Amino acid sequence: MYRNCPHIQRKCEQVTVTRNLKILEKYIVNGGNPLKGEVRISGAKNAAVAIIIAALMADEPCTLRNIPNIGDVSVCLNILESLGASVKVIDKTAYYIDPRQLRSYSVPYEYARLMRASYYSLGALLGKFSKACVPLPGGCPLGSRPIDLHLKAFAALGAESKIEKGVVMLDAKDGLRSLQKKIYFDTVSVGATMNTMLAAVKAQGVTTIDNAAREPHVVDLANFLNSMGAQVMGAGTSVIRIRGVSRLHGTDYTIIPDQIEAGTFMAAAAATGGDITVTNIVPRHLEYITAKLSKIGVNIEENDDSVRVWTDGPLMGTDVKTNPHPGFPTDMQPQIAALLCMAYGTSVITERVWEQRFNYIGELTRMGASISVEGKVAIVDGGQQLKGAPVQACDLRAGAALIIAALAADGITEIENIEHIERGYDNMPEKLRLLGANIKVKDFPDLAAASIA
Ligand code: UD1
Repeated sequence: MYRNCPHIQRKCEQVTVTRNLKILEKYIVNGGNPLKGEVRISGAKNAAVAIIIAALMADEPCTLRNIPNIGDVSVCLNILESLGASVKVIDKTAYYIDPRQLRSYSVPYEYARLMRASYYSLGALLGKFSKACVPLPGGCPLGSRPIDLHLKAFAALGAESKIEKGVVMLDAKDGLRSLQKKIYFDTVSVGATMNTMLAAVKAQGVTTIDNAAREPHVVDLANFLNSMGAQVMGAGTSVIRIRGVSRLHGTDYTIIPDQIEAGTFMAAAAATGGDITVTNIVPRHLEYITAKLSKIGVNIEENDDSVRVWTDGPLMGTDVKTNPHPGFPTDMQPQIAALLCMAYGTSVITERVWEQRFNYIGELTRMGASISVEGKVAIVDGGQQLKGAPVQACDLRAGAALIIAALAADGITEIENIEHIERGYDNMPEKLRLLGANIKVKDFPDLAAASIA
């Protein structure tokens, strides 16, 4: 598993194999304890995965801090090493990355397939070598996840692309340069915005991205690149301008806190009738989550870098529509749905970013939730007391939703496929235990796989 995965202990395989039987892990949650106390939020997954890969573009070593201890970070570090970079652990959350011996522009399939963010190798390697070979990415199954916008932007920077046997090959034969007045994205895309930024910082001339994504991790990547000498302007707005530079120096950079991890703990506190303080956060990044929780009847007190979250009355249903930042984040949709199961009345959840982000609802239904789905809309008939049951996490945030439901449920819930959760949450069971939750990690043999074999 990925747990405790600072560099030396990293493993990319998600299972251990013993006597031909895969040994897997699951979470056993005995629900009903209100969460109480203080929890420190780790660095943002979606910023870390891009910034670690971007470090390969530097001409000198970089130190990265506030890196979360999660599976996707392990994969990124493995990608860097496979390309020839040297990675050293400074402490549990800081890494020293020296890309001076980097020689290859081909990412191995074994790493690319493990996460969506491996696509940042395309922009970073293109920026560094004017060439890249990266297998199509893996990641959560949320419906079709094309990369057409990424390729369109690389073409506007002079890179030809082709996809052969599942590998994306990019080649800017005459070097990278801005060929178009502006690159307009007809869909707001986090990945395409960040990937374009990566390549454009080394492209000759000025690149303008229009209808850019505005998420906090887009701004964090721009700040990181600028700390290496890049010239990225306007990140956080829908128009980003990048003036290409020929060299990027080393830097010492601290990554922003994870707003989705923070939102997940806030929802868990509300679902259990708890009272917690969530620390090491940027309250501004959480505005839409905070506003929605307040609407549901959750009390929230904001401080400079923390929020206190508690409930003292019944929760009321509300409607939620996901949208790109500054809208309600799709990555919080499953967790808010789990919370709304406990809120009185009917709630309507509309998913506007991903085609298949309601896959977890069947599992919540096993626990007694009353939710119907029609296309992009889920209708939650709230106010139910959920009951513990065996369930499967089908993706990262689905897993987080099941944990929230399990913490509030009556009885024991066993959550399988937790490797999805550990891809993106840093030590979730331990953080929850410190807040008073009854959650254990247990090994079990994969008898289903054995019987198929
Ligand atoms: C990132 C996040 C993911 C989050 C999502 C939306 C990472 C590693 N992942 O994913 O957690 O749920 O943003 O906030 O940061 N699209 C296209 N063509 C493209 C690219 C995207 O049509 O070339 C569409 C997608 O199908 C989707 C929408 O654009 O409907 C948004 O996707 P995008 O913002 O690109 O998501 P990711 O970067 O993959």
